[in-house]
Parts: sequence; structure tokens; C-alpha cells
Amino acid sequence: MAKVIAIINEKGGTGKSTTATTLGYLLAKQNKKTLVIDFDGQGNASTICGIANTNQVEITIADLLGHVILEKELPDPTEYIYHNENGVDLIPANSELFTLERNLCNVNFREKKLLEIVNPLKELYDYIIIDCMPQIGTPMMNVMMCADSIIIPTQAELLSMQGLSEVLKHYQIIKENGNPKLTIEGILVTMDSRNTMLSALVNEMLNDKFGNNIRVFKTRIPRSIKVAEACMYQQTICEYLPDNPAAIAYENFAKELINIGS
Ligand SMILES: Nc1ncnc2c1ncn2[C@@H]1O[C@H](COP(=O)(O)OP(=O)(O)OP(=O)(O)O)[C@@H](O)[C@H]1O
Ligand SMILES: [Mg+2]
Repeated sequence: MAKVIAIINEKGGTGKSTTATTLGYLLAKQNKKTLVIDFDGQGNASTICGIANTNQVEITIADLLGHVILEKELPDPTEYIYHNENGVDLIPANSELFTLERNLCNVNFREKKLLEIVNPLKELYDYIIIDCMPQIGTPMMNVMMCADSIIIPTQAELLSMQGLSEVLKHYQIIKENGNPKLTIEGILVTMDSRNTMLSALVNEMLNDKFGNNIRVFKTRIPRSIKVAEACMYQQTICEYLPDNPAAIAYENFAKELINIGS
């Protein structure tokens, strides 16, 4: 049965989509059957996973949720799962997902709709990675209800770190009231500018504030313009430039993550 890992932070631009797609690729490279679910209307994970125009996709995660909300039978996974040539499977998203909060508002058990899509897929995969939208609301509750664990990427700066407390508050609510098995894999520092005062300060603050309860991954992902450049070629940095320091850091992060689980 797949382990479901959500990449979550209510703050925008903290490296969620980059981390979700790169981790997905690295797991697939290790012959783990891996599905990435794009759960953000921006469709960034879909783009990195090879979908040139997300608005031309026939069945997105929003369509599947529409089926669940209307209690219609879900299509067969062969009809909606996109196979990237790099080995990663994907359920894409596009701007249709932006209305999800509204579509769910009068639905019974509205926090459990994504669960109905993810549960049957678990027997097909080793890992299901969910790339989340940068906001906390009913859609995010859905993610936390069906995840086994979460990874919280944060940029190495103060304002980014302030968003962490909000994520942790919602994590506690879901863990106590709906999904007791949910755990936090850790906080991943992204876009780190090594050897700067800011980087050292952020590291110290993270460890002081959260270090006693939550793992702060030892691996930090350095800032590199090549990460953004890789997106232009619809690739992760690990495919585009495997020797780039950010690619090497992501490899180390994936090892650190898998070692925690074993
Ligand atoms: N290590 C890095 N070095 C430099 N740029 C990076 C790095 N990681 C991510 N980026 C770039 O920063 C931007 C934001 O990253 P990303 O899209 O992964 O964040 P996000 O948290 O998913 O954003 P959103 O909240 O909007 O979904 C992107 O342009 C991405 O290419
Ligand atoms: Mg994103």
C-alpha cells in the first residue's frame, strides 16, 4: 500500500511544487511506483511533470472531485493518469481547481472527498506525493485527511517561517479530530543561501522553535537559478543538471527521508 506524503505550506513560493516533483522523480528513479497528485489550480507540478498546456487536459483532479461530490462513479485510472517518460505518474490540475472550496461548501463530509479518490489508488503505488496549494481551507483539510505524513518546505527567511505555525495548528486539529495516523516527516529548508548570516540565523531559529518536536531535515536545498531554468524544459533539477548543488541536495534529502522510514 502506498505511503501518501503531502508537501504543504500555506505560504506561497516556498518550494512545494519543486520538492513534490523532484521527490517524485527521485523515488521513481529508485523503481518505486510513484504518483504525483497536483492539488493546486496553478498546475505547476503538472507543468514540471511534462504537461505543456494544463487547460487542454481532459480529466484533472478537479473533475475527479466533481464525480465524488455528485456521487458519480469514478473513471478507470487508465483514463486519467498521465505517465511521464521520467517514470512518474501524475494526476494533473488546472484552474478548475480554484473553485473547489466553493464547490465543497454544502457537501456532507466535505473533508473526506479526496480520500475517496486516493484510497483506491493506494494499492497501485509505493508512494503518492501530493503537491498542495498555498492556502489552508477545506481543500487542505482533504489533503491532511488522506495523507500519512507531511513535509513542510520553507524558504530560509523569517517571513516564510512565520507561516509554519499556521500549518502546525491545522495539523494538530486534523490529527486530533480526523486522521490520528498523520505525522510530520519534517521541515525542509529550501532556497538556502549558504554561508550567509540569514541562513545561519534561520537555521538556529528553526531548531530553537521547532527542533524539540519536529525534525528539521539536515539537508537544506541551496538556491540556484538552474532550478527555475529546469522548469522551462519541464524537468526537475535532478534530470536537467544532476550535478548541480540543488540536485545533489535533493538526492540527499530523498535519502534522509527514506532512511527515516526504514
Ligand atoms: N532551490 C531553488 N533555487 C532557486 N529557485 C527555486 C528553488 N526552488 C524553487 N525555486 C523557484 O522558486 C519558485 C517557487 O517555487 P515553487 O513553485 O516550487 O514553490 P511553491 O511553494 O510550489 O509555490 P506556490 O505556493 O505558488 O505553489 C519557482 O519559480 C521555482 O522554480
Ligand atoms: Mg506550487
